Amino acid sequence: MNNDSIIIRGGKKLNGEVRISGSKNATVALIPATVLATNVVTICDVPEISDVDALSTLLEELNVKVTRRQDHIVIDPTEIRNVTLDHEAVSKLRASYYFMGALLGRYKQVKIKMSGGCYLGPRPIDLHLKGFESLGAKVDYDDGYYMITAEELKGTNIYLDFASVGATINIMMAACFAKGRTTIENAAKEPEIIDLSSMLNKMGAQIRGAGTNEITIDGVDKLGGCFHEIIPDRIEAGTYIIMAAACAEKVKISNIIPQHLESLLLKLDEMGVRMDIGIDSVTVYGGNELQSVEVKTLPYPGFATDLQQPLTALLTQAVGFSRIKDTIYPERFKHCHELSLMGADIEVGGGSSSITGPTPLEGCTVTATDLRCGASLVIAGLLANGTTTIKDAYHIYRGYDNIKEKLRSLGADVE
Ligand code: EPU
Repeated sequence: MNNDSIIIRGGKKLNGEVRISGSKNATVALIPATVLATNVVTICDVPEISDVDALSTLLEELNVKVTRRQDHIVIDPTEIRNVTLDHEAVSKLRASYYFMGALLGRYKQVKIKMSGGCYLGPRPIDLHLKGFESLGAKVDYDDGYYMITAEELKGTNIYLDFASVGATINIMMAACFAKGRTTIENAAKEPEIIDLSSMLNKMGAQIRGAGTNEITIDGVDKLGGCFHEIIPDRIEAGTYIIMAAACAEKVKISNIIPQHLESLLLKLDEMGVRMDIGIDSVTVYGGNELQSVEVKTLPYPGFATDLQQPLTALLTQAVGFSRIKDTIYPERFKHCHELSLMGADIEVGGGSSSITGPTPLEGCTVTATDLRCGASLVIAGLLANGTTTIKDAYHIYRGYDNIKEKLRSLGADVE
């Protein structure tokens, strides 16, 4: 990749307000979904992150016109061509696999290279593929490419063995033009799925039940254009809330939906973090003695796996012994090694991390091994004495819109 680093001189108290951007994990589903439309789709509050650049490149490969205007993205799929997606951008993010469901739905065939993204341990896609097969598709894998084809897609009942976000989204998109009714049972309930369903329904789809564990999709013949505003990013919001709990005097995190963050807010309350929760904001006050906690990640509305890594940095400052069990990605603990280099007392094993605190952190050179590891190291760098250099910052830019500018506006010393 590149040698981009973020350098943080720690110890500054943060103050002010930070506005949260549109949700990354919604955006990366909404953009591929536009290929289902026969008319222009405008999406608003699109975050400035490199995952959006990679998906835009893939749309252009498909001869879809993409225009960025401030925080809007205008996508015109009227001249689309269904070509093999083998551009290197496919390997930059995992969500490029949403083109499978979208192109299969629209053209009944798709050929795409294996997607990439953060390494969080094994990340199989068997549930996506089983879903496509249940709809009547044939899946072949050869030499790094998936070839998925169908004479016709037929609505059916699909039970997901695990409430997978990606499988729910991919099957929803593939089923939009299937004949009859598709039911996804044990569907994932994440807010990003509701957001996708709401955009597809504006385009003319017939999807009911998103946000519950049973989603029905009644096939239609055609989807048109629409205007859609993305929901705020609950993981970016959670990251800044945790950061404020670690380093703020007083920081307001605005443009959020606090209900999407309930499990985090309750956990922070249990730790002793003082917060005022508004309609679309949370104000966090620093200077509290933090208590250790037990955390277990679960599918939404449980505690988000994406926030356990940032939370670990905060828990190094809590009094006592904390434990985080990640039931979604039992190997998502690479950040712990990096935090240990900074002086944290952490042990990892059996799908859990055990953190003993409080420990002072010392700035040093660490590596963002994945996106949320990067977020964890940013928080640790802000807490640490001296200078922290975070290597491989490109991971962080995949998911955090203008992070350096946002941090500086709160008074952090970052370059
Ligand atoms: N799984 C399977 N088979 C499948 C699909 C998933 O076994 O076919 C397993 C996975 O291995 C994992 C679990 O199910 O253990 C959860 O996977 P899921 O499919 O729900 O996750 P995902 O769609 O790959 C999305 C987010 C992740 C987030 C997870 C869990 C996007 C693009 N990614 O991944 O976000 O951690 O849901 O909430 O929406 C991030 O933003 O940093 C990130 C990694």
